[in-house]
Amino acid sequence: MKRNGMRMIALTGAVALGLGLAGCSSGADEAASSNGGDGAAAEDITVGVAMPTETSERWIADGEAVESQLEEAGYDVDLQFANDDIPRQQQQLDQMITNGADILVVASIDGTALAAQLENAAAKGIPVIAYDRLINDTEAVDFYVTFDNYQVGVQQAQSLLRGLGYLDENYEETDLTDEKIIEIFSGSPDDNNATFFYNGAMDTLKPFLEDGRLTIGSGQEDFDTVSTLRWDQATAQRRMEDLITSTYDGGSKPLDGVLSPFDGISRGVITALENAGYGFSMEEGLPVLSGQDAEIASVKLINDGVQYATIFKDTRKLASQAVAAATSYAEGEDPEANDTETYDNGVKVVPSFLLESDIVTADNLSELLVDSEYWTEDEVASGVAE
Ligand code: BGC
Repeated sequence: MKRNGMRMIALTGAVALGLGLAGCSSGADEAASSNGGDGAAAEDITVGVAMPTETSERWIADGEAVESQLEEAGYDVDLQFANDDIPRQQQQLDQMITNGADILVVASIDGTALAAQLENAAAKGIPVIAYDRLINDTEAVDFYVTFDNYQVGVQQAQSLLRGLGYLDENYEETDLTDEKIIEIFSGSPDDNNATFFYNGAMDTLKPFLEDGRLTIGSGQEDFDTVSTLRWDQATAQRRMEDLITSTYDGGSKPLDGVLSPFDGISRGVITALENAGYGFSMEEGLPVLSGQDAEIASVKLINDGVQYATIFKDTRKLASQAVAAATSYAEGEDPEANDTETYDNGVKVVPSFLLESDIVTADNLSELLVDSEYWTEDEVASGVAE
C-alpha cells in the first residue's frame, strides 16, 4: 500500500505521541508492534464523526456502531448528528476541525455542501473518509466506504418484481405475462446515492416497462419528478396522495406496486394507500412495496404482510470499514480500496470500499436480521427498537 505523504503531516503530531511513527514505509508496522499491537495506533487520535440525522434509525445505528468500534480501538470520538440541517452539519465540521480532530468520518446531508469545511480539513492535513454517501465537487475527500449502491437499486427492483410475480424466489424470471401498474419513488436529489439506487432499479425494470408488462400509471418517471427531498416520509406520503387523486380516481383504480428506495418513504406511501382504501395488508390489496435499511418499523410491516421487502445494509459492517480506513490513516497508510472506478465526485474518482447488501422478505427476515442479532424477535414483533 502506498503511503499518503500529505496526510502524514497532520497526523504526525498525534501519531508521534502515541506511536513514534518512523518516517519509512514500514513505520506503521514497527510502531504498532513496538506499542503492543491493537489499539496502539489510536492513542491520542480524535476522530470526528458527522452523521446526517437522528430521525432515521439507520443513522443512529451507524453513529453508535462507528463510535463504539472506534472507542474499542482506542480512539477518542467526537460524534455529531445534524438533524438534516445543512448549516448545522457545516458548523459541526468547523467545530471538529477547531477542536483538533485528526481524522474525519462524514455522512453528508447534501453531498455538495461541504467543500469549504473539507478544504479547510485538507489544508490542515486531516484525512476525510466519506461514510455511505459520497461527497461531491471537492478534491478534499480521501476515501469512501459504502455499499454497492447501484446493486442496492437493482435489488430494490428485483424485490418489487418478485412481489409482483415476475421473478421467483431465486430472482429468476417466471413466465407471468400479466400487465401491472406501478409508481416510482426516488430518494433525495442532493444525495449521490439516490441516483445510483434509481439507476440500478430503473435498468432492472426497463425490460418490463418496454414490453408493457409494467406501466407507470402516472407516467412520472424521471429522477427529479419522482424524487423525495431529504428522504422525508411526509413528503412521500403527500406525493402518493396527489398521485391517488390525479391518477387513481381517489383510490378506486388498481395499483399493483410501488418502487420505494427507503423504508421511511415506504411507510409514507403505505399510509396514503391505507387512507385511500387499498387495505391494510397485501392480502387485502395493498400494492407491493420495496424499501431499504431494514428499519424496525418496516421489518414489522414485512413480518405482518404489509410491506413486501427491504434491503438490509448491515451498518455494523460499514462501521468496521470506516474504522479500518481511519486506522490505516492513523498508521500512515492509505486504506485498501476494492473499487477505484465507480465513484467520480466531479473532481476525482474517490477510492472506495464497497460492501454487499441483501434483499429481506418475510421468508428470510428471521435468518438475516434476527440470527445475525441485528434485531431481536421481540423488536420484530413490536416494531420498536429496544
Ligand atoms: C443511504 C440509505 C438511506 C437513505 C436515507 C442514503 O444515503 O444510503 O441507506 O436509506 O440515505 O437515509
